[in-house]
Amino acid sequence: MLTRSISLALLLWGIILCGPIQAAGLELPEPLPLLQPPPAERVELGRMLFFDRRLSGDGTMSCAVCHDPQRGYADGRALSGAYPTTRHWRHTQSLINVAYLDVFLWDGRSTSLEEQAEGPIHSSFEMNLHLDFLVEKLRETPGYPELFHAAYQSETTRQTISAALADFQRSLIVRDTPFDAFLAGDSDALSSDARRGLELFYGKAACSRCHSGPLLSDQKFHNTGVGETEELLSDPQRRAARNFFLVQVGLERGERDPGRYAVTRDPADQGAFRTPPLRQVAETAPYMHNGSLATLEEVIAFYNRGGGSDPDKSPLLRPLELTAEEKSALLAFLHSLTGTVPVVRPPALP
Ligand code: HEC
Ligand code: HEC
Repeated sequence: MLTRSISLALLLWGIILCGPIQAAGLELPEPLPLLQPPPAERVELGRMLFFDRRLSGDGTMSCAVCHDPQRGYADGRALSGAYPTTRHWRHTQSLINVAYLDVFLWDGRSTSLEEQAEGPIHSSFEMNLHLDFLVEKLRETPGYPELFHAAYQSETTRQTISAALADFQRSLIVRDTPFDAFLAGDSDALSSDARRGLELFYGKAACSRCHSGPLLSDQKFHNTGVGETEELLSDPQRRAARNFFLVQVGLERGERDPGRYAVTRDPADQGAFRTPPLRQVAETAPYMHNGSLATLEEVIAFYNRGGGSDPDKSPLLRPLELTAEEKSALLAFLHSLTGTVPVVRPPALP
């Protein structure tokens, strides 16, 4: 009698503590935490700067040209748009949930949103404007100085410009997806297909080896063997942009994206890129650092083959042997990562 009630108690304890998800042997992350949003005046000033084309040399480019709110804050192109007369060499990243990241860009060469914001403004093939000149322009633009004072109790400086851009980006949060509802305990939030896909993501397909934690990114760098694209190898302007980058960071001109190696010079980091977070991924095609995979179906087929063919490819990748049904379940799971993108319209500018 005693042993029976103990085992009953153990069984109940198991059900209460572990619930149905862990019972299936999956290690799911905690829900994405709620962050304290920056003060409204800072977000508002940052929104203006984000849409203001006066932040570019010839007045044609703003952050929003490449990070389009209608396209999940990316630009929908394989290789990013660029400053007129130039062409870009990497794929535009989405800005959704950047508030949660500690390391930015495909190769992680920036470690704060404030620091990162300066990069595109002075880049020759993004916005092409000297930052000190931008400071003077904004100081002479009626309306802006007051807004900087109200938001930061400070003059317009490089620091307050990048702080405002960073604070605006911190407001671009998506955490109301069916997946998030499921993590928060709503076991009906996922369709049965998506639920099956989740089991594959955390199980047989082992996506969570790298797409781990609440963000679905370990924020680490892996070589998945994504190949160079013909366009990058043959377009003189794209070649020029890449070679300019390589020379700027002290590397040889070349035919290959060095990825994380550009930052660490560790040979093991050749061709390694930061694992992208995956919220809203269904709306930010094409994919990968060079946009070489056009659809999520192609991404799944890529992983099913065990990734690309690169001598430095991560040992974590191996052929998955997914059935057609499993592939579509994984796709349904990736679609369950879609939530509400904050509605942000171009503001009236000073
Ligand atoms: C010409 C297109 C273009 C413009 C303009 C542009 N970006 Fe980007 N953005 C990119 C590309 C391409 C990347 C990825 C670059 C890389 O990793 O080398 C990127 C990456 C980023 C990232 C990193 C996201 C992540 O997941 O790590 C942030 C943050 C960002 N941009 C913010 C901005 C801000 C703020 C502005 C305006 C000041 C801006 N961008 C203007 C194309 C652009
Ligand atoms: C070895 C670590 C690793 C594993 C395992 C892994 N990924 Fe990735 N994933 C990455 C990295 C790194 C990238 C970016 C690669 C690049 O740009 O060259 C990426 C890119 C992606 C992208 C494109 C996102 C974007 O914004 O461009 C998707 C979608 C994706 N992975 C889904 C999956 C799925 C589904 C699985 C399981 C079948 C999986 N990943 C397994 C590391 C991994």
